[in-house]
Amino acid sequence: MIRIAAIGDIHTCFDDTDVELFNDSDYDLILICGDLPGRSHKQTLTVASTLAGLSRPALLIPGNHDSTTVLQLLGEVTGSKRLKQWDERGIEKMRSRVKDLEQALGPVKLGGYSLHPFHPDRGWVESGPLDIIVARPHSMGGPGIGFAPYIESAFAVRNITESGEKIQELILRSKAKTRLVLAHNGPEGLGHRPDDIWGCDFDPSRGDFGDPDLKMALDNAAAKGQEVQTVLAGHMHHALKGGGQRKWYVCREKTHYVNAARVPRIFSKNGEKQRHHVRIELDNTDVRVEQIYW
Ligand SMILES: [Fe+2]
Ligand SMILES: [Fe+2]
Repeated sequence: MIRIAAIGDIHTCFDDTDVELFNDSDYDLILICGDLPGRSHKQTLTVASTLAGLSRPALLIPGNHDSTTVLQLLGEVTGSKRLKQWDERGIEKMRSRVKDLEQALGPVKLGGYSLHPFHPDRGWVESGPLDIIVARPHSMGGPGIGFAPYIESAFAVRNITESGEKIQELILRSKAKTRLVLAHNGPEGLGHRPDDIWGCDFDPSRGDFGDPDLKMALDNAAAKGQEVQTVLAGHMHHALKGGGQRKWYVCREKTHYVNAARVPRIFSKNGEKQRHHVRIELDNTDVRVEQIYW
C-alpha cells in the first residue's frame, strides 16, 4: 500500500509544526496542489523554504498564484487587453520566478507536464508501482490556458488541444499499475453546479470551471485502456462565495477525484488549531480517501 498526504492550496498556511507532523507521520509521499502565497512572490518563497524541510519525498504543481505577478493575474481575471500585455512581458519574469521557486523548494520536486515514477521504499525511481502524472501548471481554471505566453514559451504548448495531447502522452507513457494525476485545477465534466467539486461559485453563469485539456487527456487515455485511478487537484476552494461548502470528493467510473483546497488549511475550531490535509491510500487499483484534521 502507498500512503499519500495531499495538501491543497496552502495560501501561506504551512509552518514548522506541519513539517514536524508530516516528518513524523507514516506517509510515503506528499503531494502539494500549489498556490503557496497570499499575494507576493516573497511569500511563495517563504512557504517553499518551509516545505524544503520535509524529509519525505514530496512533489508540487505550481498554481496560478505561484511565480506569477499581480498584473498578470489581473490580466487573466479581467481579460483586459491592456493588462494582458503583461502576460507577454511577464514571460521572463515568470521564468526567473519559477527558478527561484525551484531553488527554495530544495528537495521538494516541482512538476508540470511531467511523469514521476515512485516506489514507497525507494522514493523517486526510473519505474515503480506508482506513476504520478503532473498536468498543466499555473492553471486558472475554465476553458482557456492561464498565462498562455509563458506556457507556450516554457512548454511549447499553444492551445488547449496541444495541452490535452501532452498530458495524454504522459498518461500513455506510464507503465505503473497505479496512476495518479496531480493538477492545480481538476478536469471539466464534474462541475455543472456552483457547489460541485470544480463548479464555479464566484460566477455560476460560467458553469463548469474544470480544465478541458485534463478531461480530454483522461478520457482519451481511458479509451486506450490506460485508466487513472486518482485525480488530485485544488484551486476551487471548499468554502463557497454564497456560503456553504463544495464537494471535495467524487468517484466516477473507475476514477476517484479529490479537491484538497480547504482554505485556510490552518484554522481554529473551538479554540483549537486544526490543520487540514487529505489522506490517500493506494492499493494497486483500490483507492481510499479521507479528510484529516491534525
Ligand atoms: Fe487557491
Ligand atoms: Fe488557484
